[in-house]
Amino acid sequence: MDNSTILMDIAGYSAKRLQPLDAEVLQQLYAQCTEFAYFIDGQPPLSTAARDEFLAVPQTKTTQDKYIFGLFDARNVLLGMIESIRHYPDNQTWWLGLMMLAPEQRGKGLGSKFYKAFERWVAVHGVRQVSLSVVEANEQGLQFWKHMGFEVIRKTPPKQFGNKTHILYVMSRIVNTD
Ligand SMILES: CC(C)(COP(=O)(O)OP(=O)(O)OC[C@H]1O[C@@H](n2cnc3c(N)ncnc32)[C@H](O)[C@@H]1OP(=O)(O)O)[C@@H](O)C(=O)NCCC(=O)NCCS
Repeated sequence: MDNSTILMDIAGYSAKRLQPLDAEVLQQLYAQCTEFAYFIDGQPPLSTAARDEFLAVPQTKTTQDKYIFGLFDARNVLLGMIESIRHYPDNQTWWLGLMMLAPEQRGKGLGSKFYKAFERWVAVHGVRQVSLSVVEANEQGLQFWKHMGFEVIRKTPPKQFGNKTHILYVMSRIVNTD
């Protein structure tokens, strides 16, 4: 299997692993999602947000463990991203740090197709579970993940995000290996 391409079951779209060289195009997506940065961090995305994303890993991980996937349309325009850490927090689990679609691409089924394609890809790579966290205030995000079959495992104490504070729901789902 090509290690960098995710098969999408929807014509006209493709998904693949992004590399640090793609930071400029990813930064444009962050800029399109400025409203989400305000919602989470209370401030617009940094001009280095995309570059920083490739380098941000938990202490026990290296940048080799960071997987950022991009969703592209037929003209190769980046429409969305999934940021993740392989085998974290344990060997059976893939951690999904962020999923974000450009605002005009939301609410028409693309996100669920992109997530399901991502899950098929991680399942092939021997992963049993996907875990993530979603901020309590993100009701639409929470609904989306429930719709994708995730269950709330626990709630965290308040955490600092930029100049905002959020309680998080940690959610998990056993991946579909059919
Ligand atoms: C969350 C996100 C990735 C979902 O992608 P999407 O393409 O908008 O979602 P879909 O259209 O595939 O929706 C799938 C299901 O999720 C739920 N959902 C999605 N958007 C919703 C919304 N705005 N309000 C309520 N439910 C919603 C619905 O139940 C929908 O089911 P339906 O197809 O029966 O209507 C996208 O909306 C996004 O980028 N949001 C901003 C960033 C974010 O909140 N990310 C999640 C936290 S990491």
